Amino acid sequence: MRAIVQGGSGYAGGELLRLLAGHPGIEVTQVSSERLRGRPVTAVHPQLRDRTQLRFCGRDDLEPADVVFSALRHGETAPGIDATLALAPIVVDLSADFRLHDPADYPRWYGWEHPRPELLPTFSAGLAELHRAEIAGGDRLSIGGCVATATILALAPFIRAGLVDPTMPIVADALIGSSAAGSEPTPTSHHPHRSGAMHSFAPTGHRHTAEVLQDLRALGAVGEVALSVTSVEAVRGILVTAHLWLGDALEEREIWRVLRPLTAAEPFLRMVKQAHGLHRHPDPRLVTGTNFCDLGFSRDPHSRRLVVTAAIDNLGKGAAGQAIQAANIRLGFPETAGLEQTGLYPL
Ligand SMILES: NC(=O)c1ccc[n+]([C@@H]2O[C@H](COP(=O)([O-])OP(=O)(O)OC[C@H]3O[C@@H](n4cnc5c(N)ncnc54)[C@H](OP(=O)(O)O)[C@@H]3O)[C@@H](O)[C@H]2O)c1
Repeated sequence: MRAIVQGGSGYAGGELLRLLAGHPGIEVTQVSSERLRGRPVTAVHPQLRDRTQLRFCGRDDLEPADVVFSALRHGETAPGIDATLALAPIVVDLSADFRLHDPADYPRWYGWEHPRPELLPTFSAGLAELHRAEIAGGDRLSIGGCVATATILALAPFIRAGLVDPTMPIVADALIGSSAAGSEPTPTSHHPHRSGAMHSFAPTGHRHTAEVLQDLRALGAVGEVALSVTSVEAVRGILVTAHLWLGDALEEREIWRVLRPLTAAEPFLRMVKQAHGLHRHPDPRLVTGTNFCDLGFSRDPHSRRLVVTAAIDNLGKGAAGQAIQAANIRLGFPETAGLEQTGLYPL
């Protein structure tokens, strides 16, 4: 299969190129960047030295292919969507532009009116653990946001299993590394501000809340979901710590029994169950460069609170890995094709 990576000069584009370089059935034949047209891809993705000879082209120069992975900045995809859809029968979009079903959510959460609201229902969500059947039949796939992906994967099994008290709020606290903000420098990415950071980025109102609510409410009864995002000293990685209240005061082993069948068949969900030692909770460093989401939970013995933790690589399961997993499902490749990397340890 010949693939285009549109918006290939950014961090998500670079990770798509890195992972697809090892894919047995997908070859990237064109990569676009307006800013860098004519320049070698390795000029901004030096990790790909000797792995690609491609040069960036402009979006207007792209020729039809079998699949497009689009990694443009959010807000940039929707205005040019007709040209993107004309490039290939299958389009996998990593931006936020086609994630939300309700057009009113765009002004509410993103601050802009959606220019093509009639196309929103034509996109299927690309998170395999929740939307595998839609992905298999969908030609237009919209990949989840990185913070939303970690939060949804943390909470979905518990909501699906009916373990959560819907009269109580769920509070999710996400710690994020700097690459989640993309490759363009901003005041908050300036080294003196970012180095050593424990910076409260979005205590309320983070836009991925809309996606989280959209997906979780489709799974079962959920009350209020409150998301807070804090920037920490890391380049890659997201750690979500979510607090939910159990409907019944179940013992830990009973929760495991309910959960096991929901997660056991998932190739990229790993339950972390270790009673002792340094690695008894999910750690984003252990999934760096992979498509894994590590999940764990702790039962508060003094209340019905359950603390769930999830760790992903924002550029892996939170972006490029999720996109390739969805493309594999749609294109009929093994779901794990090109995504079989193991993490690094120590890192
Ligand atoms: N970073 C993450 O962890 C992550 C996770 C999940 C999803 N995503 C989504 O993936 C997409 C790409 O994210 P990223 O982190 O790779 O961002 P990035 O590093 O800032 O890259 C953005 C890409 O968009 C292109 N672009 C096109 N028009 C642009 C414009 N008017 N202004 C600025 N850039 C423009 C840039 O290409 P040029 O070379 O032509 O400027 C570049 O290739 C975003 O929609 C983001 O929401 C990112």
